Amino acid sequence: MTTSEHISVSRVGAVNVVRIDRADKKNALTSTMYEALTAALTAGEADEDVSVHVLLGVPGAFSAGNDVAEFAAAAATGKLGLQVIDFLVALASLDKPLVAGVDGLAIGIGTTALLHADLVYASDRSLFRTPFLDLGLVPEGGSSLLAPRLMGHPLAFELLCLGNGFDAGRAATVGMVNRVVSAEEVEPAALEAAAALAAKPRQALAAARRLLRSGHVTSREDVLTRIAVEAKEFARRLASPEAAAAFAAFMGKKK
Ligand code: COA
Repeated sequence: MTTSEHISVSRVGAVNVVRIDRADKKNALTSTMYEALTAALTAGEADEDVSVHVLLGVPGAFSAGNDVAEFAAAAATGKLGLQVIDFLVALASLDKPLVAGVDGLAIGIGTTALLHADLVYASDRSLFRTPFLDLGLVPEGGSSLLAPRLMGHPLAFELLCLGNGFDAGRAATVGMVNRVVSAEEVEPAALEAAAALAAKPRQALAAARRLLRSGHVTSREDVLTRIAVEAKEFARRLASPEAAAAFAAFMGKKK
């Protein structure tokens, strides 16, 4: 399995617990981390002893989104690594349920990845924000399809295009989050829900998830197609002067 020092994987009973752990960079995601995330999910899918996946971050940061330095490098070379797309395809292709526990920042893909989760628990200090347009980019990860279906066009537009941050309460109101709890309660809530799912008859759980995902949410095929369409536009935008200026501004601020 591809591993990364910033992605840890453990098993709690039949639950595959995957943690993003790069606290010093607010859990910004690099290609290596995407690779390790994909490997962790794929291994969990293949393991007969696993019923459910749980995705967690660190205190204060679920993820600050894609590593902006990698975006800048991709803009300079014109090549965006496929690791992020592989991760998104793995997410959208899961057969086993995904439970997420969010405490703090959920930025960019930190928000859009959650649209693929079946249950999301978030702390009251969480912030969901997608600054795609401010970076000269477009929404990714199937979010241009999944978010409007979940919350309706105006709210999805506000989140994905205006780039307004949604606090945990608002995220729950629009249906992105199941329950808002305190920071200390996020992981226990996510793990408890995962354990409850893992205790269900496994084949019935898989069949029920397939049914729910094939109708109301949107079909896997539609989501995979949308991820590919978004990725093409995203790559074009990444190579644009607008994006280059935005990345330079972010990195310049840090010097
Ligand atoms: N990519 C790379 N590094 C990132 C990052 C990202 N997406 N998000 C945070 N970091 C780094 C910062 O550069 C900083 O590094 P440094 O200590 O070496 O300077 C460190 O993480 C801490 O971040 P900082 O900005 O000091 O924390 P903050 O609490 O003041 O702000 C954010 C947190 C997330 C609001 C802010 O870092 C931010 O806007 N990050 C970019 C988010 C983004 O645009 N993601 C891409 C979405 S498509």
